[in-house]
Amino acid sequence: MLTGAGISADSGVPTFRGAEGLWKNFRAEDLATPAAFERDPRLVWEWYNWRRELIATKQPNDAHKAIAELERRSPDFWLITQNVDGLHRDAGSQKLSEIHGNIWKVRCTGCRAVENNRDVPISILPSCPRCGSLLRPHIVWFGESLFAEDLDCCSKALKRCDILLVIGTSGVVYPAAGFASVAKEAGAFVGEINLDPTPQSALIDVSLQGRAKDLVPLLLDPI
Ligand code: OAD
Ligand code: ZN
Repeated sequence: MLTGAGISADSGVPTFRGAEGLWKNFRAEDLATPAAFERDPRLVWEWYNWRRELIATKQPNDAHKAIAELERRSPDFWLITQNVDGLHRDAGSQKLSEIHGNIWKVRCTGCRAVENNRDVPISILPSCPRCGSLLRPHIVWFGESLFAEDLDCCSKALKRCDILLVIGTSGVVYPAAGFASVAKEAGAFVGEINLDPTPQSALIDVSLQGRAKDLVPLLLDPI
């Protein structure tokens, strides 16, 4: 499975490309970049604090829970999520790659150590307890590559899967936007669940329109 912000929309987490995803009129592409952090780390941390505050009040919904249950039922299952909110883990998913990182982790810009950090709000500007350098969110930003181990793991899973289901992603941010084609070319059956058609809809086998929380649980109980 490949998930995006749409699956957490049903938990009340705003998507990126909807009007409610904007913060002080900035788009994600303006803030989630190394250049933005270099220019104004305070502004970027304030945005992440807004998102931390919001996500901290949210719970996994029936779609997250159904995916965790499918993992328990299937001997060979892998979840790739672009979401950084941690709701898949909260629902019980364990076999997953969080390819864009996790909002509850921080990374030192000096010694590069990665730590869990659940502070809401986090102190601005946070510094590393080891070396004193500035901490940044452990998130893959625009212009940065995915972590090598995630790329490797995803490409193996996509190449050998029988079925890929793509849920709640607009399909415009690469490399994840290319994953449906990778699986399709490797012979998988590819399906999509989204409120709207996406750029991938025409390339894949079945495109279901509806809310993730209504449609994903149906996979547990096929008619
Ligand atoms: P987007 O905000 O781009 O897209 C959300 C998608 O979910 C849209 O296609 C909606 O139609 C769909 N959607 C909304 N509500 C839904 C619901 N209840 N059920 C099913 N589908 C629904 O989010 P992503 O595709 O995840 O990166 O965005 C990709 C990346 O861009 C994010 O991971 C983030 C962002 O910049 C980083 O933060 C690094
Ligand atoms: Zn450090």
